[in-house]
Parts: sequence; C-alpha cells; structure tokens
Amino acid sequence: MSQKTMSKEEYLNKAKDLNKDAGAPKVLEDTDFFTVAKERRSVRQYDPTVKISEEEIRELLEVATQAPSSSNLQPWRFLVIQDQAAKDELLPIANNQQQVVEASAVIAVLGDREGYKNAERIFGELVEMGRMTEELKNTYVNSITQGYGSFPAERLSKIAMIDGGLVSMQLMLAAKAKGYDTVPMGGFDQEKFVEAFRVPENFEPVMLIALGKGAKAGFEKSRLPLDEVLQWNKY
Ligand SMILES: Cc1cc2nc3c(=O)[nH]c(=O)nc-3n(C[C@H](O)[C@H](O)[C@H](O)COP(=O)(O)O)c2cc1C
Repeated sequence: MSQKTMSKEEYLNKAKDLNKDAGAPKVLEDTDFFTVAKERRSVRQYDPTVKISEEEIRELLEVATQAPSSSNLQPWRFLVIQDQAAKDELLPIANNQQQVVEASAVIAVLGDREGYKNAERIFGELVEMGRMTEELKNTYVNSITQGYGSFPAERLSKIAMIDGGLVSMQLMLAAKAKGYDTVPMGGFDQEKFVEAFRVPENFEPVMLIALGKGAKAGFEKSRLPLDEVLQWNKY
C-alpha cells in the first residue's frame, strides 16, 4: 500500500472530487422517518443562490431542540452564520471547505458548560404548567445545582458535547425532511473560531453544520456491517 497522505485541507475537500459526476441530491417525496434517515448524506456542494429564510431556520431549530438532553438542561446554543462577510471570515478557519461560503447558512452548534444554571427556569416552568409541585422542583434544582456545579469542567464539557450531538443530528434530519441538505463539520480551528466569532467563554463548539440547497448529492458511503458493530447483552 502507498504511504501517501494528504494535508488536512486536501483531506477535507477530497470528497468533492470523488463526487464530480453526481446530480443534485434527491428531494424526498416521502418524508417518512426511515426514508429521511436513510437518504440523508453529507452534502458539500450547494446552490449559493438559495437563501433559507430566518423563519425556516427557526422552524428547523424548534424541531431540533425537541432532542433529549441530560436532565433536560438543553445546554445547546446556536450561532447562525448567514452574512456573506461572516461566512468569508469562517472559510479559512474551516480549512477552506467551500460549503462554508456556498451553503445558505452555517450553524455553529455550541455547548454551554454552565447550562445547568437554567435549572430553576426549566423546572419552574413545569410547576407553572401544573406538572410538578414547587417542593419537588426545589429538590430537583438543588440536586442539579450541587451536582453539576461540582462537576469538573471536562465532565460538563462531555455532557455539552453529547447533548450538542443529539440536537445536531435532529437538526440534520429535520433539514432533510424539509428538502434541504447539511454537512456536519469538525474540521475547523476551534480556537480561531471562538476568537473570531466572539464565542462566550463558557460555550464550546460542538460542530459546524452547513445548511442549504444541495447542488450535488453527497458521496455514497459504505457502512460497517451491522454484525460487526453489534453485540447483545454483554461484551
Ligand atoms: C463530528 C463530525 C465531524 C465531521 N467533520 C467534517 C468536516 O469537517 N468536513 C466534511 O466534509 N465532513 C465532515 N463530516 C462528515 C463525515 O465525513 C460524514 O458524516 C461521513 O463520511 C459519513 O457520510 P454521510 O454523512 O454522507 O453519511 C463530519 C462528521 C461528523 C459526525
């Protein structure tokens, strides 16, 4: 086997070459969950003339935020990067991945390590809705404040990453069901991103998601056979 390797930028942009002859991504007539989940692909070429409205992005995020989260603390935060100048600034930070400038928006999914500080508000709402007593709410809030408040930063970060991953997946599926495409991106300089986009100190990037109208279908990927990744009961 050849020993050749690629730079990170080449590696991240290579999938487009493999996909030169692809047509536009399928627009699904059937948006049944199983079809959407099977048909979603990472799409890296977009129609730059299509702008997704703020209203539609909000609709996608509303659905995405129905995702589960640790203690329902919803530590996800979203920075929607839509202005051309902001996308141009992001391009070199994201290894010149063209989808950053061609997609209608790039949504930075962030995790708030201090998300647990919203416990009072989140559980208080359940009291207002008549779904929880004030006393139980206080017990929950005290436990969360003490528990999460004593976790080391790495643990809070891990929670934010897990919850951020769940909301990201739900966002990508919602987009596909609505006729749009996405690609999740971890290939960017986190430090530069945080600095350039003035991300608050307690937030950390989970991933960037390009969202737009795909111009070329995603490269068809293989998957490991299920039996190689599946074990029942115990290892
Ligand atoms: C956390 C994460 C980071 C990723 N980062 C990038 C990236 O920076 N650039 C890119 O083109 N694709 C990126 N991908 C997309 C993967 O390459 C893609 O999901 C995988 O090859 C499977 O293809 P599919 O999404 O079309 O099923 C990333 C995916 C995940 C989950």
